[in-house]
Amino acid sequence: MNRKESTLGILGGGQLGRMFTCAARTMGYDVVVLDPDPEAPAAHFATRHLCTPFTDAQALNDLARSCSAVTTEFENVPASSLDILASDTVVRPAAQAVAIAQNRILEKTFLQEQGIAVGAFSVARCRESFRHGLTQVGLPAIIKTSRFGYDGKGQYRVDTLEQANDILEREPAMLPVVIEALLPLDLEISVILARSAGDELSFWPVAENRHSQGILDVTLAPARVSGVLAGQAQDTAATIARQLDYVGVMAVEFFVSQGRLLVNEIAPRPHNSGHYTLDACMTSQFEQQVRMLAGLPAGSTEQLRPAVMVNLLGDLWAEGTPPWALLYAEPTLKLHLYGKQDPRPGRKMGHFTVLGTSVEQALGTAEKLRHALRQR
Ligand SMILES: Nc1ncnc2c1ncn2[C@@H]1O[C@H](COP(=O)(O)OP(=O)(O)OP(=O)(O)O)[C@@H](O)[C@H]1O
Ligand SMILES: [Mg+2]
Repeated sequence: MNRKESTLGILGGGQLGRMFTCAARTMGYDVVVLDPDPEAPAAHFATRHLCTPFTDAQALNDLARSCSAVTTEFENVPASSLDILASDTVVRPAAQAVAIAQNRILEKTFLQEQGIAVGAFSVARCRESFRHGLTQVGLPAIIKTSRFGYDGKGQYRVDTLEQANDILEREPAMLPVVIEALLPLDLEISVILARSAGDELSFWPVAENRHSQGILDVTLAPARVSGVLAGQAQDTAATIARQLDYVGVMAVEFFVSQGRLLVNEIAPRPHNSGHYTLDACMTSQFEQQVRMLAGLPAGSTEQLRPAVMVNLLGDLWAEGTPPWALLYAEPTLKLHLYGKQDPRPGRKMGHFTVLGTSVEQALGTAEKLRHALRQR
């Protein structure tokens, strides 16, 4: 392999970029990371770090010339940057798929066009349609910005019309927005799949997700749902991937509401709810991302042990570094820290995964240890 053939690129150097970079380096690739943050978590493992904005023409040119293929770690990368890269190198997923996943309006419209069930929603681009949308969808509702939302940021739950109007009064620049009915949730699940350029699909077991304050808190895998529901979710995710002509690793978040399966959103990248695959599966979502990007065959997605993953947010650092010795004392636990310096509340700093004989047993251990960490 020459230099370019053995070099992969990624836009974004957060924890997802870091885990991709580790997988790629382990497999013998050089990795170039483009991220404007000098402290980007992926930079520690990258061969080169281009520390510029995502729109920097020179850096994009450098990336395209030095890498045989480039991917992205997050959906908010400008689709135009992916277009520029695509004129000189392989880009997976393609700009048009990322453009849909990064905009809630395009995403919801796309899903509806495909005949895929989503919760009741309305799009508002002005005050008039905002009022109309609220009456149509009903209260309580969740108002979400159409772009740049993550971890529950850029969204507001409203119970009354006054609350809704106050939000628009305070943040008129929030428009356009999607107004969603607040759904009664039985459960949240996610499907992570990989699709090759030759339309080969591979799926990991469906994951069950618990959120706290709009942020993923705990993932249980496999999800405690019927085989029929899991199969239905996987089929829906496969339809989405095919219709987007998606190449790479993709996640679909679902709500199970009153027994019905509804798509919440699409992530054009590996997903937080797939971190358990690092320790519990034959092939992790990050190794598969490398394989899809490099045009290699998919690795087996078989899960070897039931697993529970717990996110570690900056809040845990309130009294200094958490007592990791508590976690290291548990031999079935794997701790992953992302190398971030500033532990702000709500910031994802790391995660741990407990492997068990059953999901329930792993959950018991995980909850006991998380409680102990909080008590310290
Ligand atoms: N319409 C809804 N009805 C009920 N709960 C909702 C609804 N929309 C969002 N939520 C809750 O808030 C969580 C985060 O919402 P969403 O996935 O839209 O946000 P996000 O900012 O994209 O978050 P992330 O990037 O972590 O996925 C959901 O997983 C769910 O728990
Ligand atoms: Mg989400």
